[in-house]
Amino acid sequence: MIKKLMFFSIPLDFIKPGERLEFDLYVNSSTLEGRERYYRILKHGQELTAEFFDIHIKKHSHLYVPEQQRKKYLNSVTSSLRDTSTKVEVLKSIAIDHMIHVFEGGDRSETILSHIERSKEVVDSIVDLIQHQSMKDLYATLSELGFHDCYTYDHSINVCMYSIIFYKFLKPQASKFELTTAGLSGLLHDLGKLRVSNKILNNVGVLNEWDFAVIKKHPEYGAELLTNCDCESISSEMLNEIQKVIMEHHENINGTGYPKKLKGEEISFLSKMVAIIDFFDAVTTKRSYHEPLNVKDALSLMHKSVGKKIDKVIFNEFRRSIFVLSDGKQDISVGDDFDPCRPYAELPIVKIPVQKTSISLRTGEAIKEVDPRKKAS
Ligand SMILES: [Fe+2]
Ligand SMILES: [Fe+2]
Repeated sequence: MIKKLMFFSIPLDFIKPGERLEFDLYVNSSTLEGRERYYRILKHGQELTAEFFDIHIKKHSHLYVPEQQRKKYLNSVTSSLRDTSTKVEVLKSIAIDHMIHVFEGGDRSETILSHIERSKEVVDSIVDLIQHQSMKDLYATLSELGFHDCYTYDHSINVCMYSIIFYKFLKPQASKFELTTAGLSGLLHDLGKLRVSNKILNNVGVLNEWDFAVIKKHPEYGAELLTNCDCESISSEMLNEIQKVIMEHHENINGTGYPKKLKGEEISFLSKMVAIIDFFDAVTTKRSYHEPLNVKDALSLMHKSVGKKIDKVIFNEFRRSIFVLSDGKQDISVGDDFDPCRPYAELPIVKIPVQKTSISLRTGEAIKEVDPRKKAS
């Protein structure tokens, strides 16, 4: 049986005349959705002359590359870029295209399986290309980028990238296997949302009890999608770690999360790490529906959830990795029911009475400020 070739679309921006491409270029001659007819216009290794570019390439709004050549495409596009923030931007746009396929391709097990295997290739390339970046630079780039209409795609890729860099910060000698596991866990942590309707997912208003109960099912849905997933390229050890993150990223450190109300050490390390990144991205990334917090305010706000939602030791390391020199607003918090995987019309920020404490940037501990009048007496 001839295996049907699958394709992904690429923007014209990265195709320059005068180059020899490492991948084949195809166009789609059909205008009917679901009846695509791809034909090859350029074979890899052939020179892309200026004349060929003008006559055959420029007129197409989309070009296509076979799925099997995705890694070659990613590497060749990003290796030509020197500026790391452009690299992140390009990688993110390519990864968004991939996530659209994952989330909109349906949940048949063969489809999921092939998407997961391709996700690993995407994450492998992301690891190669960004692992030496700093958290601070990654934050700066991601916070500058525009946002995609669908929160989940944008957010999943951000969480993936932060997970890779933060893991590398925590463990500078981490292997490629560990970094890919961290990145893939971040990319797929909300996979279960593909079983939740967009109407519920994009509802920034008040969710009724039933809708919220459906959203709360996404960790279990996601873990279920990976059960019996016999991926050739992903070991059972890696799959097991990813599945735990999918299942546990909404567990709170004090046992009040969902779905199993796990607490403390019952929650895997990667799940606790992704939960912090999930939280951070939800409050710092630009969305169409709410203004983000700056990094200092976000860290101050998150600090109020230490020991309740998030792990203290990992959070302190997270603060250190982003390295900000002063504290943000001390009087903001989010309610205990804040859910980073939900879109909000406005961040549900709660003003709390000003406490005369500040947070040590070195240790993350609260420092009590001495009242100068008492000191004098
Ligand atoms: Fe989630
Ligand atoms: Fe999330």
